Amino acid sequence: MDVSDETQVETLFETTVSRLGTVDAVFNNAGIGGMAAAESYPLEDWQRIIDINLTGVFLVAKHALGHMKRQGSGSLINCASILGNVGQSMTAAYSAAKGGVVNLTRTLALEMAPHGVRVNTVSPAYIDTPLLRDLDEATLKALIALHPIGRLGRSEEVAKAVSFLASDDASFITGANLLVDGGFTAGKS
Ligand SMILES: NC(=O)c1ccc[n+]([C@@H]2O[C@H](COP(=O)([O-])OP(=O)(O)OC[C@H]3O[C@@H](n4cnc5c(N)ncnc54)[C@H](O)[C@@H]3O)[C@@H](O)[C@H]2O)c1
Repeated sequence: MDVSDETQVETLFETTVSRLGTVDAVFNNAGIGGMAAAESYPLEDWQRIIDINLTGVFLVAKHALGHMKRQGSGSLINCASILGNVGQSMTAAYSAAKGGVVNLTRTLALEMAPHGVRVNTVSPAYIDTPLLRDLDEATLKALIALHPIGRLGRSEEVAKAVSFLASDDASFITGANLLVDGGFTAGKS
């Protein structure tokens, strides 16, 4: 399904509830990349990134949280990025969308806290996934050098943080922004 299409998102959750009964945990993870200088950023590309990376996160949240509120329980985890926490050249649309996700999460957490539903963000640094497949060797090396831990992250390292936030071990954590970044942002605040 396409997270930027509200009808499809609504159907996804209705189908889930009719087949499985409840929506216990949702990881709002869909996202795309895109790089261009701001002064020549094609509006069409900007719109597509905002549609998927920000509006898509909102639509999934909107429909997941409706079910969770009725249940009186649930955990939603939104995927942002280090680029929702610090700026980076050539990423106008992506960093704007991810910054939006970080603060949208805080607002959703406040709305849902009285209803037993938690909402948090994970903000990964560069993770070795197909999103980075098109980068040349030199760029990849430069990216690795930005991480004090000295390597890119692994998908399972993000998954473990998401599993924690989804679980009852995180029962007092809501509105948080968990950086899974190998120290990327530690020296930048
Ligand atoms: N890889 C990284 O370095 C990195 C760093 C920080 C944050 N992130 C974020 O992590 C998340 C996952 O990215 P990834 O690195 O695994 O990339 P990926 O390209 O491997 O996975 C992205 C997934 O999103 C799906 N998707 C794209 N558009 C969609 C749409 N309109 N509707 C539904 N699904 C859609 C794709 O099919 C794909 O399965 C994204 O939100 C990304 O911005 C990635």
